[in-house]
Amino acid sequence: MSKAYKVAVLVGSLRKASINRKLALALTQLAPPSLQMELVEIGELPLYNEDIDISPAPEAYSRFREQLRGADALLFVTPEYNRSMPGAMKNAIDVGSRPYGQSVFAGKPGAVLTASPGAIGGFGANHHLRQSMVFLDVRMMQQPEAYLGGAGKFFDEQGKLDEAIEGLLQKFIDAYAAWVDAHIAG
Ligand code: FNR
Repeated sequence: MSKAYKVAVLVGSLRKASINRKLALALTQLAPPSLQMELVEIGELPLYNEDIDISPAPEAYSRFREQLRGADALLFVTPEYNRSMPGAMKNAIDVGSRPYGQSVFAGKPGAVLTASPGAIGGFGANHHLRQSMVFLDVRMMQQPEAYLGGAGKFFDEQGKLDEAIEGLLQKFIDAYAAWVDAHIAG
């Protein structure tokens, strides 16, 4: 891997103590030097509305689109809400996909990791997000899949990440780095 790729990291939970945000931060720590990871905030984006997406677009839309346009690759880390992705994440995807013909997503490599205190690790959110990415022509990493259940126990009271989970995250981010390199270099 010869160059560093900019990775936009989107977190689907807006709450301060979010497990998914902590996992996203852990992934940025574990990422190899070929990945420059940057968290892109999605909480300030107004709900997508074509009536306000006119020239000039809302500042929050423009800023978000520029951040994603400048990224080589995408990484989604999200909880599951009601067996789907949280509205904040779907809203961010909708904002990035418009105006029609100017999507910030097309052709980029991506991956998704979902985590939940529940048993099935956000499987529904993971696959709903993949469904949108198929339409948006994002090259999503297929394996390893990452549905992390039991996530309420991943961090101890001092905020230290469980070693087994850290090992899983390391495998995931290393596979993602190879995926990004193959899909950009190729
Ligand atoms: C949830 N939660 C949840 N968990 C799950 O495994 N499947 C689900 O469908 C849902 N649905 C759901 C809906 C709503 C509105 C909320 C607020 C929560 C629980 C969720 O996984 C839990 O709150 C996580 O801790 C949220 O992730 P963060 O914020 O810790 O990253």
